[in-house]
Amino acid sequence: MPNITVDGQELEVEKGRTILQALDDAGLLMNGVDVPHYCWHPKLPIDGSCRLCQVEVEGIPKLQIACNTPVQDGMVVHTTTDRVRAAREGVMELLLVNHPLDCPICDQAGECKLQDYAFEYGISASRTREPRRALKKSVDLGPTILFDQERCILCRRCVRFCREIPGTGELGVFNRGDHSVIETFPGTELDNPYSMNVADICPVGALTTKDFRFKIRVWFLEDVPGVCTGCSNGCNVYLGVANNKVYRYVPRRNDQVNDTWLCDAGRMSYKKIGAEDRLRGPLVRDDDGVLRDATLESAVAVAAERLRRLVDAKGAGVVAVVASAHATDQDLAMLRRLVDAVGIDTVGVALIVGEGDALLIKPEKAANAAGARARGFGDLGPVLERLRGGGVEALLCLGHDLLHESLLGGAGPLEGLDSVVVLDTHRSELERVADVVLPARHAAEKHGTLTNHAGLAQHVQPAVEPAFQAWSEGELLARLGAALELDGFDGSFDPLAEGDA
Ligand code: SF4
Ligand code: SF4
Ligand code: FES
Repeated sequence: MPNITVDGQELEVEKGRTILQALDDAGLLMNGVDVPHYCWHPKLPIDGSCRLCQVEVEGIPKLQIACNTPVQDGMVVHTTTDRVRAAREGVMELLLVNHPLDCPICDQAGECKLQDYAFEYGISASRTREPRRALKKSVDLGPTILFDQERCILCRRCVRFCREIPGTGELGVFNRGDHSVIETFPGTELDNPYSMNVADICPVGALTTKDFRFKIRVWFLEDVPGVCTGCSNGCNVYLGVANNKVYRYVPRRNDQVNDTWLCDAGRMSYKKIGAEDRLRGPLVRDDDGVLRDATLESAVAVAAERLRRLVDAKGAGVVAVVASAHATDQDLAMLRRLVDAVGIDTVGVALIVGEGDALLIKPEKAANAAGARARGFGDLGPVLERLRGGGVEALLCLGHDLLHESLLGGAGPLEGLDSVVVLDTHRSELERVADVVLPARHAAEKHGTLTNHAGLAQHVQPAVEPAFQAWSEGELLARLGAALELDGFDGSFDPLAEGDA
């Protein structure tokens, strides 16, 4: 392992790494050792084109670009000398010659590397008198991304991303010199399952997502760490929150899980949190057969009374339980306790399985299938068989994935049941057959863990507080267990203490 010294600090680094990679590996890059950079990105091939990362290396007369200079044992690097600073100022002046300076209307303002480095290394007045380049301000690159040609600094991160990560290669640099522009190849558009990542990696406001454009100034957003619930990969995200509303997901780097990427479908799944079709309070079916608003206490009491009556009369064998792979490990642990306390055998997890790929997207379209399986909620086949074939008279159902065409295919087979109790985040056809509906919290609204496909339990925490009535499934089940007068249930649920079951 070579040893190098950066600004007087000794580092043991991995052989074959560049200076910038070595700093990134040590967690020092822009976190103690500031080497500004545009074209370099930790998860993309090296380009070496922007020249902003120049540093002084003892024994080498010319400044070296840190992103493409391999470390050597005994290397002594300086990142804060006058020569280095002058080089950075020169690069910044060049980049700003043609930049439109439309920060007041740019979505990137507040998280823009051109702003940040101009503040740090820019000069306060321009030495040019020539007019700036006038280019197209809003090029539609495809379904998700708009491109402002004037703001582009030609770092080519977006080009390398499309070529190397999804492997679709839709973007290229066309023309030469100061006529160079980023464009899609003729007859193509930027349209791949990971297209929106180009907006994250564009260091300036040249590439913006249509979804987030002009929604809010980013300095009003609080970045709350969370986990995408779109599939069992469990990609790490920051939820951008303001005014108790989630405005976006952006990737949170985790080299074990998602590097620095998100798929577009998962990224857009933030919309489910504040969706119009969220369940907004408990519902109980009245004597006229109409679902009506109810208090939590009365709804839980009705659910418990219906289940207790059936179990007392016919035994726990007539009750089926469908777990949700969207619930947290702690919610599922509480469900397991309730199922065992009543003695219910007909249990399984409703899980939608779709397409996956070799990058991030997993076939299981829920975040906690592994957590459900670990708590004994396995294949739904036997539950479906009994629901279709008879023998079940009551159903306790978490979520509505059960209705998916690959599982029950709709609520029809549930019509003849004596009692259906539903715990769910969103409205669904289950309301047609439900006797009691209890509104549940989304993973962005509660504490807990979600276990991804690789068995990694990842924490979630409340990023927003629902503006309506909703409880975690664990709390609803704890109250139901208490109303059923089950041993060990006192109605309380602590997601931080519940742990594994
Ligand atoms: S659009 Fe952004 S990421 Fe692409 S080359 Fe220009 S500045 Fe770089
Ligand atoms: S790959 Fe899965 S977990 Fe990752 S962003 Fe997409 S849907 Fe979410
Ligand atoms: S970051 Fe090194 S040349 Fe661009």
